[in-house]
Amino acid sequence: MKPELRWLKPDILQETESIQGMAMRIAILYGGKSGEHEVSLRSAASVVRNLDKSHKLHLIGITRHGAWHLQPDSVLADCLEGDLPLDLRSDAPVVLVVPGTGLRVYGARGSADLPLDVVFPVLHGTFGEDGTVQGLLECADLAYVGADVLGSAVGMDKEMAKTIWKSVGLPIVPSITATTSDLKEMDTLASRVESVLGWPVFVKPARGGSSVGASKVDNRSGLESAAQKALLCDTKILIEPFIHGKEIECSVLGNENPRAFPPGEIVPSHEYYDYEAKYIDPDGAALLIPAELDESSRNRIMEIAVSAYSAAGMSGMARVDFFIDKSNGTIYLNEANTIPGFTSISMYPKMCEAGGLPYPALLDELLSLAVGRKKSRAALHYDRV
Ligand SMILES: Nc1ncnc2c1ncn2[C@@H]1O[C@H](COP(=O)(O)OP(=O)(O)O)[C@@H](O)[C@H]1O
Ligand SMILES: [Mg+2]
Repeated sequence: MKPELRWLKPDILQETESIQGMAMRIAILYGGKSGEHEVSLRSAASVVRNLDKSHKLHLIGITRHGAWHLQPDSVLADCLEGDLPLDLRSDAPVVLVVPGTGLRVYGARGSADLPLDVVFPVLHGTFGEDGTVQGLLECADLAYVGADVLGSAVGMDKEMAKTIWKSVGLPIVPSITATTSDLKEMDTLASRVESVLGWPVFVKPARGGSSVGASKVDNRSGLESAAQKALLCDTKILIEPFIHGKEIECSVLGNENPRAFPPGEIVPSHEYYDYEAKYIDPDGAALLIPAELDESSRNRIMEIAVSAYSAAGMSGMARVDFFIDKSNGTIYLNEANTIPGFTSISMYPKMCEAGGLPYPALLDELLSLAVGRKKSRAALHYDRV
């Protein structure tokens, strides 16, 4: 496969019928029961502002407890006029997912179906990017943007993703998986880490996001508290060697024939790309698009990104993240995010834009891919053939 062809001629290689010019009824899911709830409010506001105005948008805000509410028109109007994150009103009518039917809205004056062409989950992390919402939408027979149940679940679970990527020969960061029971034998765990990985190490939840619950550990004495912190976010954690590397990210887009865009680089001003550097400190990181890489490393990253995406069963989109070891140039595949940050200054849309696909056209392509995937599955038989 020649990744460079995939981004130079996206229009020719586009694999689904374009929805350009088609007015669609779109439900935007945002918020969510996740440590990345606020990030979603920002990503969704950008999606709303950049979608073609011919579409009919229904904003469905999901509270931190997981309840779905159809937002009043004023939330949409305020979003289109301003530049703030999307508002989320939990006093708005409740939305239920009805298997085999779709979405149904329950308000003070009764209930009604919500006719839709496609759902756009702009949810990051748990209960949004991990296959759970995708499963609900499958049961409700709805087309939706982004990876399906399997691709989402694999993307969310860094241990499972590594297992798959390793099996197809992709260069993962080695790791030790631990759970609460391993912490009961802390000395044994610390000795294993010391002999297999050495110090410093990086400890993180296996199914986390936005660097929540992650930390660098310089020596044996810091391992227990870092592990406990990560275990607040997940029941299993990963312990990896700390890679002193460049952080490279690569946008991938498509269903059966995904294409990669030229990668970008994150240069954090902190010791690593922590939550503060990502979202709070305005000088937390510089984003370099495109990344300064020689041609062969750039092509290799794009090639690995597409292979990782396909091996993990992803569709729609994903941002595939890497480290390049500063001391010897070794490329490590770190993780894939199936609903990456999506504000207009986020890496995923920015890298697509730099590769020739502006944000509004990217949104249209994602909608086309969602509808295309649904169409291809609609032809399947679920009875005896
Ligand atoms: N093994 C590692 N070595 C050095 N830094 C790491 C390592 N793993 C993660 N990091 C740092 O932590 C950040 C968050 O980790 P990541 O694995 O991307 O999880 P998530 O983004 O899902 O929280 C990375 O962007 C990177 O800065
Ligand atoms: Mg990450």
